[in-house]
Amino acid sequence: MITISITNQKGGEGKTTTSINLAEGLARRGKKTILLDMDPQSNSTSIYTNTNLDQNMFHIFHAKAKLSQIILQTGKPNLFVAPASSRLAEMEAVSANNVEAPFILRDSMEDLDGFDFCIIDCPPSLSIFTINALVASNYVLIPLQAEKFSVDGIVGLQQTITSIKKRINPQLQILGALITQLKPHTLLTKTIIPILTKYFKVFDQSISDGVAIGESHLAKCSIYDYNKKCRQSKEYEEFVEEFLHELKK
Ligand SMILES: Nc1ncnc2c1ncn2[C@@H]1O[C@H](COP(=O)(O)OP(=O)(O)OP(=O)(O)O)[C@@H](O)[C@H]1O
Ligand SMILES: [Mg+2]
Repeated sequence: MITISITNQKGGEGKTTTSINLAEGLARRGKKTILLDMDPQSNSTSIYTNTNLDQNMFHIFHAKAKLSQIILQTGKPNLFVAPASSRLAEMEAVSANNVEAPFILRDSMEDLDGFDFCIIDCPPSLSIFTINALVASNYVLIPLQAEKFSVDGIVGLQQTITSIKKRINPQLQILGALITQLKPHTLLTKTIIPILTKYFKVFDQSISDGVAIGESHLAKCSIYDYNKKCRQSKEYEEFVEEFLHELKK
């Protein structure tokens, strides 16, 4: 199984939107995929299921449950969800004094079998949950907007990734950055994308700004099911292809 953290400690950069549409895009291509919700806000969970289920990510952190015990089938072929709940937030302080805390998620994945991908939707912080995700991952994908404040946060994120790679998870790699909510041809875009490429690969495909994304969340579905002809649907399809191509390199 290839595990990918969708990470950016800044809020509202498109982590959840990208997690949903990447996971569903992979499942549609026949890849058996888990969408793992590591965020107490439970936004990706809410697209596929109820957010107050008895078994959820809280039980992984609270009771050392196994991921195989909490994952659910969604209505979509090949797509499974590891649901979050708001109670997950309680575990943040508890985990702070526990030396095993960074490894809880990785340990919970040990008995999983037969999955191709696990896509982890991270919270907007460099909390113990993001650290768990990075420790358990092969790759990091960073969604971000072409905005100054978005780029300002990148250095902190990169330091965290470097430190986890050095101390705990040497195989961790930054796969690249995906520009979201893009307003094409603005001066901002022309200035910021060249700055980002100094830090890491920026995917050729970006996702433009459009109301269809917010509407798809309201309709509780992926962008493909909401409107497969809309611009963002085609862009996410192309991104999934580029993502798979990048993994083969
Ligand atoms: N391409 C897009 N076009 C327009 N709106 C978008 C696009 N992508 C995301 N959004 C909107 O931006 C907001 C933030 O997106 P999303 O929830 O995916 O970000 P996030 O990084 O997961 O946020 P958080 O840090 O709170 O978890 C949402 O309201 C979403 O509908
Ligand atoms: Mg989110």
